[in-house]
Amino acid sequence: MEISEKVNGQLAVLSANLAVSDPIGSGQVLPAIESWCTSAYTTSAPHPHGSLKGILSILDERTGENYQVQVSEEGTVKSVDLKKITMGKDDKGIKLYDPGYINTAPVRSSISYIDGDEGILRYRGYPIEELAERSTFIEVAYLLIYGNLPSQSQLADWEISVSQHSKVPQGVLDIIQSMPHDAHPASIIVSAMSTLSIFHYDANPSLKGHNIYKSKQVCDKQIFRILGQAPTIVVAAYLKTVGKPHVLPLSNLSYIENFLYMLDSMGNRSYKPNPRLARVLDIIFILHAEHEMNCSTAAARHLASSGADVYTVVAGALGALYGPLHGGAIEAVPKMLSEIGTVENIPEFIESVKNRKRKISGFGHRVYRNYDPRAKLITKLAEEVFSIVEKDPLIEVAIALEKAALSDEYFVKRKIYPNVDFYTGLIYRAMKIPREFVAVARMAGYLSHWCESLIDPDTKIVRPQQAYTGVWLRHYEPVIE
Ligand SMILES: CC(C)(COP(=O)(O)OP(=O)(O)OC[C@H]1O[C@@H](n2cnc3c(N)ncnc32)[C@H](O)[C@@H]1OP(=O)(O)O)[C@@H](O)C(=O)NCCC(=O)NCCS
Repeated sequence: MEISEKVNGQLAVLSANLAVSDPIGSGQVLPAIESWCTSAYTTSAPHPHGSLKGILSILDERTGENYQVQVSEEGTVKSVDLKKITMGKDDKGIKLYDPGYINTAPVRSSISYIDGDEGILRYRGYPIEELAERSTFIEVAYLLIYGNLPSQSQLADWEISVSQHSKVPQGVLDIIQSMPHDAHPASIIVSAMSTLSIFHYDANPSLKGHNIYKSKQVCDKQIFRILGQAPTIVVAAYLKTVGKPHVLPLSNLSYIENFLYMLDSMGNRSYKPNPRLARVLDIIFILHAEHEMNCSTAAARHLASSGADVYTVVAGALGALYGPLHGGAIEAVPKMLSEIGTVENIPEFIESVKNRKRKISGFGHRVYRNYDPRAKLITKLAEEVFSIVEKDPLIEVAIALEKAALSDEYFVKRKIYPNVDFYTGLIYRAMKIPREFVAVARMAGYLSHWCESLIDPDTKIVRPQQAYTGVWLRHYEPVIE
């Protein structure tokens, strides 16, 4: 009730402002938005366990030397401080070997917090459960990017700014149209997002100067463009693959409604999405909006560190998101459940997992060694969806598979629980929504990390080390010899 009242209020503001239009890239002065990140970045909330600051003493038993290393408030040591631990002049010092960055923190961030053992996720300090229950995706996007929840007028300005940027340059739509019908929608989305960098060359540091992102106005403009255009691109990519014509966005609808309108309406302007399903999608977007240094967000920060333009940054992140071990699991789960087919086949499937022939898609997580808090919320959303739309027979297979795995010693011992993607794929399937839609939600996270990296004084170009294991030295001999 509270949410729908709020959304209606926001829609009224949007409708009142429909007269304002923004041709793409017009450079029109946009409504003022609070200075990005600053407040959240400078506010230092006390760590729940108190300060972890101190000195770590290390005894190198190889040499008998003792070293002292500073531990920060957050409990980190600078890996560069370990360089001084060496065996002599030919030894360049200790390096951390950490494939997959399992225990490496390349950034300090104030955007989201995860406690994987306790199953906690917070955005800017707000528990994910509260945001899912009471907020909207577009409000959460503002929170993530700018650090605080918007005031009523800031929210109205924000929604207008994003919706005014929902039109995609015709050239990008033409490129989408030129792709093969059987291309994967995610590949099309990655290509379209990187193509935006060509059309929005006014925001390319390589063309316009390395300092352009020091301007808040320039950054805001790119944020509006990416959040505004992402749904249009994703829907265009999907409609292309199913052979349907592109539908232009409507700016008098909320973010989610416009999304469903472009997807389902076939251009019928009187189309209205089911409000309960629209709200489900809104909550799913909140749950997928941000997840600290996951594979794709880390990719975004990696690319941003070189000073690349933000469209290339986001395209790179989307490329990482697409893999089946990451966001692609949403697609892999229904496929896996279809392969299992019926509940009777579950024991055999579980055996094949235990024999390491395959993994359960939508299970396990690098950080959560407890129930993923988002998965708990998604389960409730699945119930809501299946009370509205026709029940998917795969849901029974999913429930039985979850039950079987959670009571099996193999999974219990390894603390493998369902993750957010386990039921998301089924919800999307039931709502006839392309699974790639998740990419739109994650834009909020990528953009908040992009902003944070721009103002972080510790930002450096990402350039990890390696431990060389190859041939030490040999000399070239021409092939004839
Ligand atoms: C997400 C994921 C990549 C995390 O990987 P990770 O942190 O490197 O975890 P590991 O692969 O080291 O897993 C630890 C153990 O659990 C097992 N495991 C992890 N996820 C598993 C799964 N989904 N099914 C079966 N076994 C799994 C591993 O085989 C490993 O067993 P071992 O210790 O006997 O070798 C992994 O859990 C996975 O592949 N899940 C399926 C894909 C998925 O749902 N991705 C979306 C994540 S939101």
